[in-house]
Amino acid sequence: MEKVFIETYGCQMNFADSEVIAAILTKAGYGLCDEIEEADFVLINTCAIRDNAEQRVRHRVRELRALQGRHKGMRIGVLGCMAERLQSRLMAEEDNVSFVCGPDAYRRLPEMLAQVRRQSGECLAAVELSTTETYAEIEPVRLGGNGISAYISIMRGCQNYCAYCVVPYTRGRERSRDPETIVREARTLFEQGYREVTLLGQNVNSYSWGVQGEQGVQDNTVGFPELMARVAEVDPQLRVRFATSHPKDLSDKLLEVMAKYPNICRCIHLPVQSGSDRMLKLMNRKYTVEWYLDRVAAIRRYLPDCSITTDVIAGFSTETLEDHEATLRLFRKVRYDYAYMFKYSLREGTYAWKHLADDIAEEEKTRRLNEIIALQGEIALENNRKEVGKEYEVLVEGESHRSKEQLFGRNSQNKVIVFDRRDAVPGTYRRVRVDSCTAATLLGSLVQ
Ligand code: 5AD
Ligand code: SF4
Repeated sequence: MEKVFIETYGCQMNFADSEVIAAILTKAGYGLCDEIEEADFVLINTCAIRDNAEQRVRHRVRELRALQGRHKGMRIGVLGCMAERLQSRLMAEEDNVSFVCGPDAYRRLPEMLAQVRRQSGECLAAVELSTTETYAEIEPVRLGGNGISAYISIMRGCQNYCAYCVVPYTRGRERSRDPETIVREARTLFEQGYREVTLLGQNVNSYSWGVQGEQGVQDNTVGFPELMARVAEVDPQLRVRFATSHPKDLSDKLLEVMAKYPNICRCIHLPVQSGSDRMLKLMNRKYTVEWYLDRVAAIRRYLPDCSITTDVIAGFSTETLEDHEATLRLFRKVRYDYAYMFKYSLREGTYAWKHLADDIAEEEKTRRLNEIIALQGEIALENNRKEVGKEYEVLVEGESHRSKEQLFGRNSQNKVIVFDRRDAVPGTYRRVRVDSCTAATLLGSLVQ
């Protein structure tokens, strides 16, 4: 039996996709291996969102040459967003790559691997995008997880066309997965002992499944709030999370559903990208700062104990110091619990690439990014200090990295809490009191 080693870069969607890839290949008779040395095929599932993500993969591909020198039959395939973006160009530039396969073509992998074996030397590319592929009925093979939390992909693609973003080009148009298959997957996971699922999509709030009515109006549709309710009803002991939401679509209806089900986690990732209306307009984000703050107020109203996290980009085209200050002001106002902070990276093919100058100097981007990072560090520490003395229900996930005597878990707000092990067991819920904190972690002790 030929063996496959899958390496994943990038976002949660890619980790979920790798599990679908593993399912497709094992069903076709390939084996999975944990040691890259044993692999006949190394599949690299890649991200194209920023240039540094791509450079990391390029570096890795070149590093694998040495291994291929020792294992003559070893073939390398590049999968995912970079494969889609670069297509055969990638094989021309990296001559140890034998095939590329885009995010909508994974069902073709068994055939591709066989073909690569038959005609050694020839390069293969499967990069057609689909408007319907959701891999709905494929039961993912869980890779490297803890047996407690798992991802469930509920929709694919994105058609928001934010000016800076390559995703609409690498992952194609939005399409939603049949809700029955989603609920079934959640139920199976719960029966297998999983206690947390994260519903994934580039923009989960546009989840929509249903019958197309007259004049294009949808009847009997299942929207994201209904889907969340159905998954939450699988079992009160199953935590439900989701990522990512676009602020323009965060509805009160969703917040009402969240408030109704205590097992839907009190954590919302709401990427803001910039605190300046001028930048938001240029980015084609379709909301204003005022709208965003209204959504934050709605979250606080429906779910007073909800944590809010975000994504932000420093140094987008023409960003002035004033625009940057506006972002810092917004951060002070919202007081995020966590933020993913990036320097703007110009991506080929995007609206910004065609029409907007990448005109902020690299050092200035870095300076602005560092300013945001420093501010967010202070805010996260202050937020965490307010947690000291509070008690939370924690889903125990495993041993702490620092000591075997300590375990860690997360509260509903997705904050990591480390505590003395005592009789606690991973995969169960325990009450933990927060005793102290750092900017990144809460330290606590078991109650009872
Ligand atoms: N440059 C920098 N950051 C980007 N993101 C998306 N495209 C770019 C880009 N070209 C960020 C956004 C998005 C997150 C997933 O990645 O903040 O929300
Ligand atoms: Fe990219 Fe915008 Fe779509 Fe997010 S919503 S994937 S940032 S285009």
